[in-house]
Amino acid sequence: TMTAKITLHKGDITTDAVDAIVNAANNSLLGGEGVDGAIHRAAGPELLAECRTLGGCETGDAKITKGYRLPAAHVIHTVGPVYRDGTHGEPELLASAYRRSVEVASANGCARMAFPAISAGVYGYPLDEVAKIALTTVDAALADHPEVVEARFWLFNDQVLGAFERALAGLGRHAHSASYQPG
Ligand code: AR6
Repeated sequence: TMTAKITLHKGDITTDAVDAIVNAANNSLLGGEGVDGAIHRAAGPELLAECRTLGGCETGDAKITKGYRLPAAHVIHTVGPVYRDGTHGEPELLASAYRRSVEVASANGCARMAFPAISAGVYGYPLDEVAKIALTTVDAALADHPEVVEARFWLFNDQVLGAFERALAGLGRHAHSASYQPG
């Protein structure tokens, strides 16, 4: 059964003062659009400077930096797959991005973390599939890493929030969600 350690929130992940927010980045780790752009804008130029030292990131892996001007102490940069048709390893790579992010949080003493809907924007992954993979993978990873006590999902609009609420209900417990307006 789903743990009570997962919560759903509507709005902007850059507002959350958790120990680590997860960025849906690209292989360069040098910034982009979507949540990646929002995180770099809110963190300031020191984030890009640290990212330049990391040598990029493989799809399905994750790397950590400081949070700089963000309320969150750290950013865990992960790279989800670009969706083609679902037969090119996309589910495994998306699950890996979520799992590695929890592992990196655990290894760096981050007890509370926050996720966006990785690959659900520019990378074109179908929303209902993202929601199922995200929730099942993070739930299992939290069970393996009890030092990570909370994972919050920040869903940017009603469509994304709705997909996660349906997936959470389908996985065996009612959506435990809080709606926050950004700004
Ligand atoms: N807070 C939370 N979620 C957000 C925010 C925000 N501030 N802004 C957007 N989203 P995307 P991807 C949602 O495109 O699909 C970048 O250029 C958005 O509505 O940010 O993994 C990278 O550099 C969607 O539901 O990430 C890569 O090149 C979700 O975040 C590429 O995009 C993910 O959308 C990665 O694409």
